[in-house]
Amino acid sequence: MRRRPRRNRSSVAIRAMVEETQLSTANLIYPMFIEDGKSVKTEIKSLPNNYRWSLDTILPEIESCINLGLDKFVLFPAVNESLKDKVASYSYASDNFYLDAIQKIKENFPQISLMSDVAMDPYSSDGHDGFVQNGEILNDETLPILAKMAIAQAQAGIDIVGPSDMMDGRIGFLRDSLDEAGYSNTSIMAYTAKYASAFYGPFRDALDSAPKGGDKKSYQMNPANKQEALIEAELDYQEGADMLMVKPATCYLDIIHILKENFDIPITAYNVSGECAMIYAASQNGWLDYQAAMSEMLLSIRRAGADGILTYFAKDFAKFTK
Ligand code: PBG
Repeated sequence: MRRRPRRNRSSVAIRAMVEETQLSTANLIYPMFIEDGKSVKTEIKSLPNNYRWSLDTILPEIESCINLGLDKFVLFPAVNESLKDKVASYSYASDNFYLDAIQKIKENFPQISLMSDVAMDPYSSDGHDGFVQNGEILNDETLPILAKMAIAQAQAGIDIVGPSDMMDGRIGFLRDSLDEAGYSNTSIMAYTAKYASAFYGPFRDALDSAPKGGDKKSYQMNPANKQEALIEAELDYQEGADMLMVKPATCYLDIIHILKENFDIPITAYNVSGECAMIYAASQNGWLDYQAAMSEMLLSIRRAGADGILTYFAKDFAKFTK
């Protein structure tokens, strides 16, 4: 045998030298949930180790994350049912607690990169990402609502808006609306290939944002499709997205890979609630080693080609590597 691949695995030193994929805390974006109120720290039942916070409790939590080296966060609002309506008007209301939180967080920690969610579901009485009429999700009627939401977030100081709604044409519509309103420096991370996945369950528990009727299959992608991800990516790219996201991550590593190969802007992936919940559950049962399993999961997403990863493991990963 002239070729023995094991020689390049024979010591810690050699293994470190030939390691092909680097994953660090700098690649991670930490999703956090916020609600209106005071002194809130409510654990999410189906997503252990993750909480709904209020502004006063999230500020010190973000500070402790910063001390661990995390500097990118994505914030999701849990909105009181009584504030929801058909047109998501609370999403851009002047007394919206989420917008206020964005402003306060950025005031306290100007160095972090803060990302938002742009979609109607947290604010919609129908629980859908778009405007519903007679059971149908209307595309073009949704766009101006998303634009108002994005502009309000930009005004509050958000660094990156994250349209997760999957309406056609929304990236171009948002880019033009933000530019016209004077927010040409606000980035757009497009949820480009967002699949109609079973793995969003714990997230919908966290926000009470499950659809009241029907499912999301007329706008989120069919898990069977790969070519379609290229079409979505081409459109988002042409329409001015700064980054393209694949969601979920681990069942869709091939999609991350194909976007990375075909596009020259950063690719990100959302390691969604259900993926993290599986690892939490198995480790709580003693069936998996938490640190090893979650690190391997994150590494696989990075190896597939993701430059950035949105993950509920971000804080623990930062802690383990520090
Ligand atoms: C909604 C949104 C969802 C997630 C992020 N934004 C859920 C959905 O589309 O129903 C899921 C994230 C996760 O599961 O961690 N616009």
